[in-house]
Amino acid sequence: MSATSSITVDGKQVELPVKKGTIGPDVVDIGKLYAKTGAFTFDPGFTSTASCESKITYIDGDEGVLLYRGYPIEQLAEKGDFLETCYLMLFGELPTEAQKADFDYRVTRHTMVHDQMNRFFSGFRRDAHPMAVMVACVGALSAFYHDSTDISDEQQRMIASIRMIAKMPTLAAMAYKYSIGQPFVYPKNELDYTSNFLRMCFAVPCEEFQVNPVFSKALDRIFILHADHEQNASTSTVRLAGSSGANPFACIAAGIACLWGPAHGGANEAALKMLMEIGTPDRVDAYVAKAKDKSDPFRLMGFGHRVYKNYDPRARLMQATTHAVLKELGKQDDPLLEVAVKLEEIALKDEYFIEKKLYPNIDFYSGITLKAMGFPTDMFTVLFAVARTVGWIAQWAEMIEDPSQKIGRPRQLYIGPDRREYVSLEQRG
Ligand code: CMC
Repeated sequence: MSATSSITVDGKQVELPVKKGTIGPDVVDIGKLYAKTGAFTFDPGFTSTASCESKITYIDGDEGVLLYRGYPIEQLAEKGDFLETCYLMLFGELPTEAQKADFDYRVTRHTMVHDQMNRFFSGFRRDAHPMAVMVACVGALSAFYHDSTDISDEQQRMIASIRMIAKMPTLAAMAYKYSIGQPFVYPKNELDYTSNFLRMCFAVPCEEFQVNPVFSKALDRIFILHADHEQNASTSTVRLAGSSGANPFACIAAGIACLWGPAHGGANEAALKMLMEIGTPDRVDAYVAKAKDKSDPFRLMGFGHRVYKNYDPRARLMQATTHAVLKELGKQDDPLLEVAVKLEEIALKDEYFIEKKLYPNIDFYSGITLKAMGFPTDMFTVLFAVARTVGWIAQWAEMIEDPSQKIGRPRQLYIGPDRREYVSLEQRG
């Protein structure tokens, strides 16, 4: 007999089915709770709530494990490339050589954006945050690609997915070029995905540009590490937006907006700013004390995670990537790296951080790496969005293809005034 859980509300007892996943915690299916007891569950921040079934990503936060379609992140990051991860995310299996070649070709052939997008860009102020530009431009894709917005058509869903993965680096590079007043650089199809992106960001039309293979490999790895992270805030936003039947470009724009916040994707920018503010290793102790002081809102950026209560497995890989990039630049003694290493060392030994299980997360080291590669801080979250697009789109497609899918509609605990009668303006004291 399958497991059940029993709950009594106001004397009404109800048996609730307990569902088992392949791995990970069981879930109590409360779908019938309201119908049988008249009560809702209350879980702000969804700390104990599974919002869907998914076959894409698994995280064991206590053990520090991250699997994409069952494959450990370490193996994918060390042995594969980003487009292989994209294929795995979308189709559920690693591609054969022929499938990989075909997929790479398809993505590469979709990297250009409609030329009218250039004019769309010129509507922005030069100093606009590139995430603001990305939210608008990705949303605007639905105005340019009508032929892939019918979500009931499997073909159109796939074309939209490929378009999104292919065009995000182009739009991200355009946002960057626009902010620094340089001409847009068109994609070059002979390059791989990540080298192409680096070229679109850093080449200028008047000079030849050679992509540094160490940077390309490092950024490709950063993309793999950020590709998906199960039902995080931005992914849940994409699913919720998509549950109403909205087109995929609009849903991804919603995900980008959510990612922008400093508690989510904005943390890499915030972490680097914090390291710069600390400045020298001798100031680290004072900042650790500030982070522990409950009367001070300051938190150590790049530390702590809702799910990982152990070292974030992505942070380890990110740390190695940071060292590789700094070595390539001959900057092993970079002052920011020194601050980061000291901060990590002190925090990992501190009782406050140990007791609360606060470990460095992926954002702790990614900012140093991206800065060393030449990206300004306000582009960091944009790079995160480029990488996470495949996760968003795979999760969105999984939801659309799920026959039990319904519009997402949470309920609430109402704590406002009880019913009262309208008082006319003259009678109000
Ligand atoms: N520095 C100091 N104290 C912290 C920190 C921190 N970075 N993070 C959590 N705490 C404390 C917090 O004050 C709380 O203490 P208490 O129990 O005494 O009230 C306790 O640890 C639990 O924190 P929480 O805010 O209830 O935990 P959460 O799961 O809601 O928050 C988090 C997770 C990531 C928002 C939070 O750890 C944080 O703000 N970290 C800094 C921002 C950051 O690095 N974010 C990137 C997340 S990884 C990338 C991504 O997935 O987008």
